Amino acid sequence: MEKRQELYAGKAKSVHATDDPDRLVLTFRDDTSAFDGERMESLARKGMVNNRFNAFIMETLQAAGIPTHFDRRLSDTESLVKKLEMIPVECVVRNIAAGGLVKRLGAEEGQALDPPTFELFLKNDALHDPMINESLAETFGWATPEQLAEMKALTFRVNGVLKELFAEGGLLLVDYKLEFGLFQGKIVLGDEFSPDGCRLWDARTREKLDKDRFRQGLGGVIEAYEEVGRRIGISFD
Ligand code: C5P
Repeated sequence: MEKRQELYAGKAKSVHATDDPDRLVLTFRDDTSAFDGERMESLARKGMVNNRFNAFIMETLQAAGIPTHFDRRLSDTESLVKKLEMIPVECVVRNIAAGGLVKRLGAEEGQALDPPTFELFLKNDALHDPMINESLAETFGWATPEQLAEMKALTFRVNGVLKELFAEGGLLLVDYKLEFGLFQGKIVLGDEFSPDGCRLWDARTREKLDKDRFRQGLGGVIEAYEEVGRRIGISFD
């Protein structure tokens, strides 16, 4: 497998073509952004930590029967993935109120959400990823009703698998964002799953161990990511 030209550079990852038209290389960089890229910082080891974290989670989900784009980790900061036709919709499940839900609806941070909520956002930096719904997604052609139903079902299946995995490490999965795409016509989980795109709290102390440490200037960002990883059995050596 040969890594070829860069196709796209996001805020924290870069995407390269390969000699296989159906495969891409994801490179996890140390760059960290918050507030729509308003705050950018390079955090040493982040690319390596998130690449390993994502590989472990994607393999766990795959083993649980959830289709993902992940093939294999290539190096400390690179992974080989299937090339998807991305659906520009972000799926968010929340088990506990935090972040956007607290801000938008005045929910109390830490309030249990039963049943967990499911939200859709349009992936569009210029518009600041506005909240959308099934009707808008269908009318504007971002996803079909069948695709949305499948994405919702898969997002909740991920919740079942990961809530249990993190609980075994003494962690609460507060919320998370997933992105999907199409591979050979089938809906497949894409992008990444790392503490950059979810909220994880210590179950006993409720200490924040995710990207909120960066957003809120709490420090110890990568140390927290590594702590979470170690608790669920990931080695970063
Ligand atoms: O900001 P908000 O509370 O809506 O985010 C919900 C979850 O989705 C958080 O875990 C956050 O990290 C993640 N998210 C993300 N990328 C976005 C929006 C939200 O990873 N563009």
